[in-house]
Amino acid sequence: MPEQPSDVAPPSSVAALLEEIVDIGTDQTRGGYSRPVYSGAELDLRDWFIEHATRRSLDVETDRNGIIWAWWNPTGAPLRDAVVTGSHLDSVPGGGAFDGPLGVASALAALDQLRRDGLRATRPLGLAVFPEEEGSRFGVACLGSRLMAGDIDPVKAARLVDDDGITFAEAAERHGLDPSGLGRDEEALSRIGTFVELHVEQGRGLVDLGQPVAVGTSVLGHGRWRLRITGQGNHAGTTLMDDRRDPMVAAGAIITAIRDVARAQPQARATVGRIVPVPGGTNVIASKVDLWLDVRHPDDAVTAAVVADIAGRAAAIASTEGCATHLVEESVSPTVQFDAGLRDRLGAALPDAPRLATGAGHDAGVLSAHLPTGMLFVRNPTGVSHSPDEHVPDADAEAGATALATVLRGLLGA
Ligand code: GLV
Ligand code: MN
Ligand code: MN
Repeated sequence: MPEQPSDVAPPSSVAALLEEIVDIGTDQTRGGYSRPVYSGAELDLRDWFIEHATRRSLDVETDRNGIIWAWWNPTGAPLRDAVVTGSHLDSVPGGGAFDGPLGVASALAALDQLRRDGLRATRPLGLAVFPEEEGSRFGVACLGSRLMAGDIDPVKAARLVDDDGITFAEAAERHGLDPSGLGRDEEALSRIGTFVELHVEQGRGLVDLGQPVAVGTSVLGHGRWRLRITGQGNHAGTTLMDDRRDPMVAAGAIITAIRDVARAQPQARATVGRIVPVPGGTNVIASKVDLWLDVRHPDDAVTAAVVADIAGRAAAIASTEGCATHLVEESVSPTVQFDAGLRDRLGAALPDAPRLATGAGHDAGVLSAHLPTGMLFVRNPTGVSHSPDEHVPDADAEAGATALATVLRGLLGA
């Protein structure tokens, strides 16, 4: 017998769902939230999601790449050509409350709305949670979706290390995964017919447009490189200034040069958000410094040229300090245009929603190379993200979930 609205619990509000996790992973030192993949905080969030999915009688599984799936399949049809929505629960260090969890909570709230309304879905609906979207622990952005899609060598992924020297394989194993199972998952991919990710907007587009929700059009190409500057570790008191080969001094000048290179290239963004001196003592001249470089531009060839320019300038600057450089590409995601047909469908379902491009990376961007993918963005009045200042008012969060339910209704009922 089809599910009746009276069989299902009243819909949860997004704000109420997010309130339940407000204390998980708070970071007293940095402010905001630090929820790295497979940390205690992220595992608690996964449990929170699984608990909600179970309470809703969804079929829940964690696949061999650590992606959680929760299926609503009222017709009992084979899991093929499903509509999937979801996001991630890991965060950057000291991040905001909404980047990732908003999309997960909205998926639950949208499902509740569809069931309350007695939707007779003709396709299964999947709710998904992707691990290590931020790449904050193991360095590679969107690691879970890349693994599923076969966009990263699983052997390389297994060997990625965190700051404590723990490999991704070890972390995955501690979480009950078999590292030999990492990698392209044809079965998981074949189940997804359409993927729609709702996400907090990470800029000011919707604030300026005066709208709560937008339809995503594109994801800016983004990449990460690690620039190692090698010098001579030595004593801070006994080494005269003229006798030093100090990679921290080179790093300072290189960071300024990186800013200058990006400024000279319209639409380019280049960031050094993480600098790791070794050994990292106050009275120690570092022996080496790793700069983590994030470069983005709409044209992937320009991104490559910007990185090449940075590499040349860094080598020249380092040599004036008696140091050497070595640049390693960690991950690159090309610029993505979302599926035009799906984008138009989302636009038709949400006629007031403007179209918006994003400069942030998303699992939806990775998946869009493999299947029709779209995004919805929800207004963030501060325009700030990857920071505790990121915000979504409750009313906009509800507007987002309702917009998601509207587009899912169209996709599921068709
Ligand atoms: C993730 O949010 C990114 O844009 O790096
Ligand atoms: Mn995100
Ligand atoms: Mn993010």
